[in-house]
Amino acid sequence: TWTMVNIVEEQTERVRTQIGGKRAICALSGGVDSAVAAAVVQRAIGERLTCVFVDHGLLRAGEVEQVEKDFVSVTGARLKVVDAQEQFLHALSGVSDPEEKRRIVGREFIRVFEQAAREVVAEDGAEGEEVEFLVQGTLYPDVVESGGGSGAANIKSHHNVGGLPEDLQFGLVEPLRELFKDEVRQLGAELGLPPEMVWRQPFPGPGLAIRIVGEVTRDRLETLRAADAIAREELTRAGLDRDIWQCPVVLLADVRSVGVQGDGRTYGHPVVLRPVSSEDAMTADWSRIPYETLATISNRITNEVREINRVTLDVTSKPPGTIEWE
Ligand code: XMP
Repeated sequence: TWTMVNIVEEQTERVRTQIGGKRAICALSGGVDSAVAAAVVQRAIGERLTCVFVDHGLLRAGEVEQVEKDFVSVTGARLKVVDAQEQFLHALSGVSDPEEKRRIVGREFIRVFEQAAREVVAEDGAEGEEVEFLVQGTLYPDVVESGGGSGAANIKSHHNVGGLPEDLQFGLVEPLRELFKDEVRQLGAELGLPPEMVWRQPFPGPGLAIRIVGEVTRDRLETLRAADAIAREELTRAGLDRDIWQCPVVLLADVRSVGVQGDGRTYGHPVVLRPVSSEDAMTADWSRIPYETLATISNRITNEVREINRVTLDVTSKPPGTIEWE
């Protein structure tokens, strides 16, 4: 649309002025905000932007591939993918407490990211120089929320891989600061990002780590990833992507229940479907998903994911529940 073209031009120009001849780095999370912010900055400064995508092993199925293929082919951005799966798994081993998981993921993320920033400079043979700017996909509601003293920040320590702490000593570049989520999606479409990327569900920085209630292990991640992929696939097939805000799938890893499959007794884990409708994630209602779709998701998950023998539905609004379970 006309307005979007304007915003693209205006922001590109603004970013170009701000960064000048310097270098910038952007942490891609796989989410729409960081992708759109990066695309705008790429437009403005080209090769002087490096996007870093940390594969912490807590991602959804297909996420790395989508960033590697779709994002790069559309934007032409310079991308560095860091495989840090072992590092994160190791750091998280034995940890069940939600806040502790969040702290660990945030801490490890910064380590990986700082290392990546140093490597970028070295790759360019520009020793002695530094990356001076950090691109963040901060939206208008984020700005309001953090300045508004709503108290929400105390409920969970959010870690946003598109949003690092400011004490990292970078100048911040935030081309989406004046926009709402729906506008960011329009902007993404205008910039040519594929619909799967533009319409993807919000995904927390700590990823699947906070959707496993209990300790995070490689096997549990694999189980949850498989169940999550099925739920997303069926919601998309049912045409519900734009009606629901997001649908976390949560693995109750410390709970077991008895089931029966074929002639055999099973003693597996439940997953919880947490479909919600929301405008801004500050409040939410549980989505009234058609029974047929729920039935398909349930059948497929219990048939296709060995460890899971029960699928449950979370019918709690926010408040009192939060969207994620941890
Ligand atoms: P809650 O669970 O607080 O979630 O109701 C509200 C929205 O925020 C997302 N979320 C996060 N996003 N880093 C993020 O970038 C985080 O640490 C984080 N924790 C929750 C959640 O998916 C929902 O959209």
